[in-house]
Amino acid sequence: MATNVNAAALDESPIPDSVAPQQHKQTVDPYNVSGEVGEDGVVKAIDYNKLVDEFGTKKIDDALLARFERVTGKKPHHFLRRGIVFSHRDFELILDRYERGEPFFLYTGRGPSSDSVHVGHTVPFEFTKWLQDTFDVPLIIMLTDDEKYLFSEKRTVEEVQGYCSSNAKDIIAIGFDPAKTFIFSDFDFVGGAFYRNIVRLSKHITLNQARAIFGFNDSTNIGRIHFGSSTGATSWASSFPHIFGDDEKKTVGIPALIPCAIDQDPTLSPARRKPLSMTVLTDSRSQDFRMTRDVSARLKYQGAPYAKPSLIHSLFLPALQGPGTKMSASIDESAIFMKDTPNQIKNKINKYAFSGGKVSVEEHREQGGNTEVDVAFQYLRFFEEDDEALEKIRVAYEKGDMLTGELKAICIKELQKYVAAFQARRAKVDDDTVKLFMDRRPLKWNGNPRAPIV
Ligand code: TRP
Repeated sequence: MATNVNAAALDESPIPDSVAPQQHKQTVDPYNVSGEVGEDGVVKAIDYNKLVDEFGTKKIDDALLARFERVTGKKPHHFLRRGIVFSHRDFELILDRYERGEPFFLYTGRGPSSDSVHVGHTVPFEFTKWLQDTFDVPLIIMLTDDEKYLFSEKRTVEEVQGYCSSNAKDIIAIGFDPAKTFIFSDFDFVGGAFYRNIVRLSKHITLNQARAIFGFNDSTNIGRIHFGSSTGATSWASSFPHIFGDDEKKTVGIPALIPCAIDQDPTLSPARRKPLSMTVLTDSRSQDFRMTRDVSARLKYQGAPYAKPSLIHSLFLPALQGPGTKMSASIDESAIFMKDTPNQIKNKINKYAFSGGKVSVEEHREQGGNTEVDVAFQYLRFFEEDDEALEKIRVAYEKGDMLTGELKAICIKELQKYVAAFQARRAKVDDDTVKLFMDRRPLKWNGNPRAPIV
């Protein structure tokens, strides 16, 4: 059952669930990500099929990928090929629009809660960059500094504003194109068309619905109750007249495609039909895009219907401790941080990365290792782009030809390469670059629409 819903105290909980399993059911929400705990007390890998079923999203299947390739002429990203980006809502509608030359945009975000960005944070942004390169449409990145203030007992306004600028630098270092990317912080950007949309959205959500969706109670601060309307209003193109123009009758119909990790999908929405058998907590830290989709479907601007956002979901990069939980910014030994040195990466993988290998070399040679739970192998699924190379490793490890130490060495090399390349790009990002991305300005892109919007 959902427990502490008014859960600011759980914000970045101090102990990973894999280290201290406390519940037995699978839990996926903005605070906790943990697989089911078996009778032996061991945390199982997260069952993503179950999530698709219970959240009511759609699995990305081969037919959708084939269509994607046909429509874009581009081989699907290895995250798509390997089921790392595995679920969606209405992604096919975006492909329809792409085919017809109609406008849409990309929207994603980050809550600036600390300076400690790890590889689990960069993964959804890597995919977003690839989508931007593929579709060549505007990308809007929201930094929810207000959210991180409202949902924490300790953080000050000044503190989250400081994280905003360093997080923006980390995001920029992924390699986004400044001509097509607008990054904003809520504290700076709320006002004008965006605020009008926030208020429009909030007018269509009653306190009763907010309670039911987010589990608020009488002691919840009213900032939290209202907050979901900001993340929702960012999925409306008419919030950004400097990008899409002032003609709201045209811009309300332009949908967003939102790439995000599955825990950002709304959970207890009124549209839910199936009973949830796992613990799901939400509050407005989660993106209630189901709520936004619901309101969008009811709203019209002078007769023109609002577009519902589409979503595309990724799974989590597991914590070093195992595939049953995700990396945590506040637990150094759970994650590979973007500031880690090559040596730190090596030591963390060697010391903490959960192994699917057998206890003795003899046994391993005979029976082989389990790649499904082996964290080093799982990381390679994210970071080794070459399908053939990955397949060779899988076969060798499962046969017992490759030992855990050898597998870890390959993983260490890939991660060191990834983090070093990031650090080199990050070193070049200064305050002027941040200003370039965060200035309210028109964007230039070459993809849809094929005809001007305004
Ligand atoms: N609430 C998210 C967080 O806490 C940030 C966010 C805002 C976001 N809008 C989003 C994430 C859209 C994914 C997609 O990190």
